[in-house]
Amino acid sequence: GDRAELDAARTALGVGTGGPPGGTLALVPTMGALHEGHRSLIRLAREHARHVAVSIFVNPLQFGPAEDYSRYPRTFDADLAVCAAEGAGLVFAPAVEAMYLPDRQVSVAAGEMGTVAEGAFRPGHFDGVLTVVLKLFNLVRPDVAVFGRKDAQQLALIRRMVADLDVPVEIVAGATLREPDGLAMSSRNRYLSAADRGTALALSAALRAGAGHHRPQEVLRAAGEVLDRAARADPPLVLDYLTLADPATFTPVAAGHRGPAVLAVAARVGGTRLIDNVEVSLT
Ligand code: PAJ
Repeated sequence: GDRAELDAARTALGVGTGGPPGGTLALVPTMGALHEGHRSLIRLAREHARHVAVSIFVNPLQFGPAEDYSRYPRTFDADLAVCAAEGAGLVFAPAVEAMYLPDRQVSVAAGEMGTVAEGAFRPGHFDGVLTVVLKLFNLVRPDVAVFGRKDAQQLALIRRMVADLDVPVEIVAGATLREPDGLAMSSRNRYLSAADRGTALALSAALRAGAGHHRPQEVLRAAGEVLDRAARADPPLVLDYLTLADPATFTPVAAGHRGPAVLAVAARVGGTRLIDNVEVSLT
């Protein structure tokens, strides 16, 4: 609903009244079509605060003109049941008109880090993400917010925004949940046909192959081989990028780099664009 309803729900929970363990509130921002990955974030949120809020909002600002905003899956009733089952006491699901004034002008700029990797393929995407996340923080006023590592660059940018703009919210990261075959869970997986899904397994398989190595060139070669094979499959995988990046800046690591890095991939299978990543330790 709207802002007044949100404030009433917040008060009804007793947020900020100091009850054990502190009347604290954790927010899990989502775009709905909730799956097991979202569920795990709600459970993680419960470990970090007395109350959990889930926001469900398909944010038009973060979709490009040729992207899937209008056909993005919307499963509101099932999502409400998931939130209730996982113990979220507050669900905030505003209408688009309640979030964005027709004459809005001011937004958050992701900066350089919003133009690399995923940002190079989705111009303006991260500006849209950061703008809505800051608005959700200001509306819901959580103490803690939980994000998944599945969207590693998004997570890094939210941490950057919190540091750069002194946002008074503690950011907690949750692990990527996967299907038994390795495919990272995603609301967009429901677009995949059985044949698409076979090809899509190459994303996680490539990351596993890469993570078995510890020098940048070898990591990229091993992952690249798996993706090259999938590019010849039916249906083919169409690679957007494979990058071995600094986890804090998302710029590619240098040849002799040591320490933790993130191996990230984005590719299209059929009409569906998928992303995945894994942490790699470079020695
Ligand atoms: P959405 O894609 O719905 O994802 C909501 C949260 O769930 C994000 O923090 C995302 O990283 C996490 N998530 C998605 N798949 C996951 C998986 N398999 N395992 C663990 N966590 C997973 O990300 C967004 O929405 C939006 O950009 C949002 C932050 C809500 C701003 O509009």
